[in-house]
Parts: sequence; structure tokens; C-alpha cells
Amino acid sequence: MGGVSSPAPLPDGVTVTALRDLAVRLATAAGALVREGRPDRVVVADTKSSDVDPVTVMDRASEELLRAMIAAERPDDAIMGEEGDDLAGTSGLTWVLDPIDGTVNYLYGVASWAVSVAVVAGPPEPGAWTVLAGCVHSVGDGRTWSAGLGEGATRDGEPIHVGSAASLSTSLVGTGFGYDADRRADQGRVLAQVLPRIRDIRRLGSAAIDLCLLADGSLDLYYERGLNPWDMAAGMVVATEAGAAVTGLRGARASRTMTVAGTPERVAELVEILEAADADGVGTPRIG
Ligand code: IPD
Repeated sequence: MGGVSSPAPLPDGVTVTALRDLAVRLATAAGALVREGRPDRVVVADTKSSDVDPVTVMDRASEELLRAMIAAERPDDAIMGEEGDDLAGTSGLTWVLDPIDGTVNYLYGVASWAVSVAVVAGPPEPGAWTVLAGCVHSVGDGRTWSAGLGEGATRDGEPIHVGSAASLSTSLVGTGFGYDADRRADQGRVLAQVLPRIRDIRRLGSAAIDLCLLADGSLDLYYERGLNPWDMAAGMVVATEAGAAVTGLRGARASRTMTVAGTPERVAELVEILEAADADGVGTPRIG
């Protein structure tokens, strides 16, 4: 279970600590750019997967800054970013970038949005990668979560640990929805099965922040279908290093198909409901 496996070989002279420090510097620098450059009225520069999946000028500017800083400091590493083409590298490491996670919140002035930066070894694909280090910088309130594989996780420098909800019925659960209308309809069907069995649901609008809130005990559980690598990479290493189980359904690792995070006991209970509801869309629902 979990998105992080045994330590991957690092290039000569590279440490997880140094990669984590760079992730923090990258995320905070891009956060400052986006905060200072936010106009009073943010406009949509383009749309992506659907009409309600926006890109702003500052998504692009943030990613350009991140790419330039990585090119200057680690020119042999590959880059996968939400807003640009994949860049090949030779070191075996890939930086996975979300220049603004929670773009709809950024657009509307709702505070929950972040710059998310992670570095992975192996294929840059959830389920196949080893996330070595990551940082999620929540720009609105300045909170910064980071983690390095085997180093633990922190929020603003203080160690954090996943919470300990006593039962599923008293668990506060974060989730999110995709941008495609049919996918959303199905996510609504699944939510109708989950909601009566938990304390309440939170849809905060940034998967990266959701995973970090799970990591520091502010949420008890989190699940979402359809996350992209950049939505989840940094938050996943923060959550696992804070003691969370992060998994998919039916014994699979967390992936684009499904990500469930929390303490192992509560995750097992939520997974049972999600599997019965066929929340990842790979089987036939037994409920709902
Ligand atoms: C989105 C956010 C949202 C999640 C979506 C993501 P974006 O990322 O993380 O919380 O529910 O699945 O696509 O588009 O704001 O970078």
C-alpha cells in the first residue's frame, strides 16, 4: 500500500534533503510570483479538458519560473508540468509541477490554492514512481508542507502526523471532482454512498492541499478519482511521510484511477464502500 516504495538510487552527490530544500525554494518562489502578480480580476487565458477547466496567465508564469529555476540548478533532470510539454532528462529524476493547484479558487479569490512541486525517481506516473521529496505551498495563508522520503513531513518546519479518527462515522473526509460532466455525475453517485456513513465531506478545491491537511490531521480521510500526477505527487509524499496509508482500490497503488488516504484502519473502511460503489469505474457497482 502507498505511493512511495523503497528508496530509489539517487544520482551521485544528490541527497533527499537537498532535493526537498530545492522543492521548498521552488514552491515558495513561484508562490510569491503568483501572489504578487494576481490582478484584482483574474481572467481565464485558456481552457483545457473542458470549458470549466481554466488556465490563467499566472499558471503559465508560475510554471515558467519553476522550469527556469530547475534548468539553472538541475539541468539534467526531466520536467513534467501541468501547463507545458514534458522535458526529457538524463539523471533519472523528474520534477512534477503544479504551478497553481486550485486554479478555480485562484480565479474566484477563494483562499485554497497552492504551488505543488515534487521530484520523483522512475517513471513520472503514480503507481510506478517513487516520490523522493515534495513541497506544497499554500499561497493565501503562507502554510508550507514538505517531506523527503525517509525524513518525515513538516508544516512550517514542525513535524506533522496523520490524525486518529476513532471511526468512519466520525471522520471528516476530503474529496474532489473532475472537470468532465459525465465523470462528475458518477462522482455524485458515489458521494451519495459515502456521505451518510461519515461525519461530513469537504471539497476545498486543491488536491495538493487536501493531502497535506490529511497529513497534519485537519482531515481524517481523502479520496478522489482522476487525479493527475501533478495534483498528487507532492501531497502524496507529505501524507505518506506523515504516516498515512495512500492507496487505490482492489489492492492497487494510488493512481490516476483512484487515490484514498488516511490511517490504515479508516482507509480500509472507506475502500470497502468505494469498491462496492465501483468508484474507480472499473467494475460493476454493488451499491448505488
Ligand atoms: C484540480 C484540484 C481539485 C481536484 C481536481 C484537480 P487544478 O487541480 O486539485 O481539487 O479536485 O481533480 O484537477 O486544475 O486546480 O490544478
